[in-house]
Amino acid sequence: MCGIVGAIAHRPVSPILLEGLRRLEYRGYDSAGLAVLDPDGKIGRLRTLGKVAQLSTAHDERPLAGTLGIAHTRWATHGEPSTQNAHPHMARQRCALVHNGIIENHEPLRREQMAAGHVFSSQTDTEVVVHAIHDALAAGHELAEAVRHTIARLDGAYALGVIDTHYPDRLVAARQGSPLVIGVGFQEYFIASDVFALLPVTNRFIFLEEGDVAELRRDRLSIWNAQGERVERPLRESSVAADSAERGQYRHFMQKEIFEQPRAVADTLEGRLSNEGVLPEAFGVDAERIFAAAQAVTIVACGTSFHAGLVARYWIEALVGLPCNVEVASEYRYRQHVVPKDSLFVTLSQSGETADTLAALRIAKESGYATTLAICNVPESSLVRESDLVLLTRAGPEIGVASTKAFTTQLVALLLLTLTLARLHRTSIGDQADAARQTALLRSLPAQLERVLALDDEVAALAEQFVEKHHCLFLGRGEAYPIAMEGALKLKEISYIHAEAYPAGELKHGPLALIDEDMPVVVVAPNNALLEKLKSNLEEVRARGGQLYVFADDQVPFQADPGVTIIRVPETDDLIDPLVFTIPLQLLAYHVAVLKGTDVDQPRNLAKSVTVE
Ligand code: G6P
Repeated sequence: MCGIVGAIAHRPVSPILLEGLRRLEYRGYDSAGLAVLDPDGKIGRLRTLGKVAQLSTAHDERPLAGTLGIAHTRWATHGEPSTQNAHPHMARQRCALVHNGIIENHEPLRREQMAAGHVFSSQTDTEVVVHAIHDALAAGHELAEAVRHTIARLDGAYALGVIDTHYPDRLVAARQGSPLVIGVGFQEYFIASDVFALLPVTNRFIFLEEGDVAELRRDRLSIWNAQGERVERPLRESSVAADSAERGQYRHFMQKEIFEQPRAVADTLEGRLSNEGVLPEAFGVDAERIFAAAQAVTIVACGTSFHAGLVARYWIEALVGLPCNVEVASEYRYRQHVVPKDSLFVTLSQSGETADTLAALRIAKESGYATTLAICNVPESSLVRESDLVLLTRAGPEIGVASTKAFTTQLVALLLLTLTLARLHRTSIGDQADAARQTALLRSLPAQLERVLALDDEVAALAEQFVEKHHCLFLGRGEAYPIAMEGALKLKEISYIHAEAYPAGELKHGPLALIDEDMPVVVVAPNNALLEKLKSNLEEVRARGGQLYVFADDQVPFQADPGVTIIRVPETDDLIDPLVFTIPLQLLAYHVAVLKGTDVDQPRNLAKSVTVE
């Protein structure tokens, strides 16, 4: 992943670059750097290990003056996090480059360049790109041509920003497989990995397409497509407010985002429901006809989004009666798969830029799926642009690396999909009377989520019992199983406690061997048809001295006992249980992480948007 920013302006660009990096830090934060062309025509460069704050401090001590520059925040792929491996990379003090992505053929290129006398100063895959550009410049190509010449030799994914001392009037950018957006100002242009980085300076954007090369001058912008033809790309205005990525009164972004869920869910429902159910237009004009013909559903996603897909499988198979296969994108893309006749291919993604999910979509489009549908939180993302149908979640920017509101809004979107399919396939839950009840239920969701957020203090107190633990087991059955998986993922991501989820019925096939008084067992126990089965599983844990922490519906007749802590979750309907039970598990992970003093919003080794394989 990594984040890129660049600017060409009439004003000093360093503050713009540093603020842009701060806003992109969710994409990677092991090192950062910037390069600015100074008034004497030399490139000044600063690089630091660690977060953008360290770079800012270094910049306070040694400011870089200039009106043209590029900057980068890194998530290491090739070469450890270090100052030497941090971008921008330079070739012979002449040109500087920032890169997001992975150059797969960097080894042969490096061998060739070393034989030609280039000296490498890093272990990155990126450095070959700047040397190749340098060679093309030295061979007489002007900057944009040199970049075009170079990318023709690259395999893999890249978003690039390049400056050169011989061309002080331009910044050149290119993209293939990694996101890059151009910000349009008045007599100034910017580049960045996403729009949030640039919101303080502009709300007008141009999204580069795969294979595009762009030359940004102060007074003009030129774009060439992959075939080298001059092209125009549409200018779009973003309605996202610059302060929407601010933390406000909250201690962490994750905390803010957990508490934003009632509003995010309400926004995702807005304009998509009538008293008679989900509006036919919710998925676009042609969706009804396509959905009515669908005979199967395949859902592909990564991480938290994958867990949302797993919940949807329970819904779609039970309520619609269509077969539904759910798979992680990194597996799906590399295996032979059978495409069921007339099937719908659904991708789920917060960012819309996850490399594996995008690759899976591209494969699906060529393998004979009837239609592709993206459920995504970023309107301008690659996934949205490349899918036939789109349903946007409206969670707003999610900055905390551990996904929260993106997940619950995905569940809402998947409920809208399930109910639409049910109506079109004329199942009992799709009939008119039921539709009115479901509408009321969906509309009650924001208020239900507010009620469950009121458990915050209770869960914060409970978190103290987890701080010293090294392992934790999460159990659930039915739709509560993927919710248990999501709870375990949240805990491991931000508290570094090893956490695994099991379907409770699988306990006896292995994990029961792990149970002792040091292994907390978190149970997701909604009041549904599987409750009695779940109770038997809990007895198996108790009989072996395990500590149970049961998140149970108000109506569930569980007794608190020594070794059994019950956290009462306000009673709700089966259909929306997965959303309601997610919230206390998010709060648990959050409070454990706060007590442990980890970096909640930017946990070690992870990044928010995984735009590399
Ligand atoms: C990363 C993030 C997760 C996210 C996953 C998939 O691992 O840290 O929070 O669930 O990517 O991202 P997507 O944007 O495709 O939902």
